Amino acid sequence: MRTSSHHAAVYFCFPSDTSSMDSDASTPALFAPLHLGSIVLSHRVVLAPLTRNRAEPSETYDNTWFPTGLNVLYYSERATQGGLLISEATPVSRRASGLPGVPGIYTPEQCEGWAKVTCAVHKKRAFIFCQLWHQGRVTHSRLTSLEPWSASAVPIEESLHNSKGLDPVPYDVPHPMSVSEIQETHQEYVNAARNAISSGFDGVEVHAGNGYLPDQFHHSNINVRTDAYGGTPEKRCRFTIELVKKLCAEVGKARVGVRLSPFGLFNETRGEDRQEQWTYLCRELSKLGIAYIHLIEPRFDEWRSESQKLDFLQHYKAIGEEVSLRPYRKVMLPPTKCIVAGGYHPGNCWEGVERGDHDAVAFGRFFISNPDLVDRLRTGKRLYRYERSLFYGPFGKKEIGYTVHLNREFAGESDIGRAQMV
Ligand SMILES: Cc1cc2nc3c(=O)[nH]c(=O)nc-3n(C[C@H](O)[C@H](O)[C@H](O)COP(=O)(O)O)c2cc1C
Repeated sequence: MRTSSHHAAVYFCFPSDTSSMDSDASTPALFAPLHLGSIVLSHRVVLAPLTRNRAEPSETYDNTWFPTGLNVLYYSERATQGGLLISEATPVSRRASGLPGVPGIYTPEQCEGWAKVTCAVHKKRAFIFCQLWHQGRVTHSRLTSLEPWSASAVPIEESLHNSKGLDPVPYDVPHPMSVSEIQETHQEYVNAARNAISSGFDGVEVHAGNGYLPDQFHHSNINVRTDAYGGTPEKRCRFTIELVKKLCAEVGKARVGVRLSPFGLFNETRGEDRQEQWTYLCRELSKLGIAYIHLIEPRFDEWRSESQKLDFLQHYKAIGEEVSLRPYRKVMLPPTKCIVAGGYHPGNCWEGVERGDHDAVAFGRFFISNPDLVDRLRTGKRLYRYERSLFYGPFGKKEIGYTVHLNREFAGESDIGRAQMV
């Protein structure tokens, strides 16, 4: 397979322009402008990164998928003047994922597809960051034809790949990365970031949460290294901090964000020293002057309901750790902004921004079922319920549950606080 690490092509499009935006004392803080790196948003309702498996398989590059007109429509429907979209998790290389329908950013075909997406988003005068993704031990050799790499040779135990219709398959024991393989992988991210910027993205977000590769380095139950990349909270953060420094050097710190889940349990993340480690990480990342840190609320996980997740976190309280994003937010220095996500809805999305607890709120599931979410929040219109079974497919009629929403019902109390994704 021929892949591209550096594109000569640069895709030009309309620049986003927020010069006409304005706000006054009666404007809720959620709809006030925000300086984020080198861009100025005109409101703080952000599209969270959402894997939707709707990209097209390539006929040219094995095991790859690329964005098409359908994906252009999906993103442009959610673009508003001066609003920020974060792309779905976008693999940085073939080893990074291999999931069907997930568009990477490492072949020319993928970059051309993404350039059409960013162009459509910019025509609506919105901004879009590309979420850079490496699944590490969470992918499988059957998907990539390559051995999965991780911090240590610690496989996922409980879960099995069990896509509908396929027999469950145990996860591979990942290959523990050598220092040169760490550098090689960092370089894949850097190449992907360069591709993202030449494809018209306004910046990149490192997915360093939810148990994916950088997070595998963060967690003491997965990272059992005794070298410079493991053994202490500081050393477990080294993979991510070095990576972010390299990305800042490549695309500029104003165009870099990082997503973290300090309370994450997904993908068997059970690391200790959470508060000490993630406050250290947030402080160090913020010192680099990056555009933002994107934090997932403790109540949200991708496998349990809100109440089950909060019950599970009780033992953090017992050992004196705060079950809130406050300690992490407190160590962030200007100009780094704080975006939060996880369980936000029209009943709880206003106060935190108003109080200055965080700067912007990302919405996932409600943005899936309400492409016009920004307008609905602004005008107080009711939200439509999301349909879980259509989050990651179907693959036959890709538009269903993506750009075409059938049998819509308004959301009610029962839609709030349910974290499960399937
Ligand atoms: C269908 C689906 C796909 C998701 N894909 C991603 C992803 O690609 N990257 C990521 O960081 N988070 C992903 N998430 C998590 C969301 O970004 C978000 O944090 C989560 O849905 C909580 O926000 P919400 O309560 O507003 O839905 C996904 C969530 C859902 C429901």
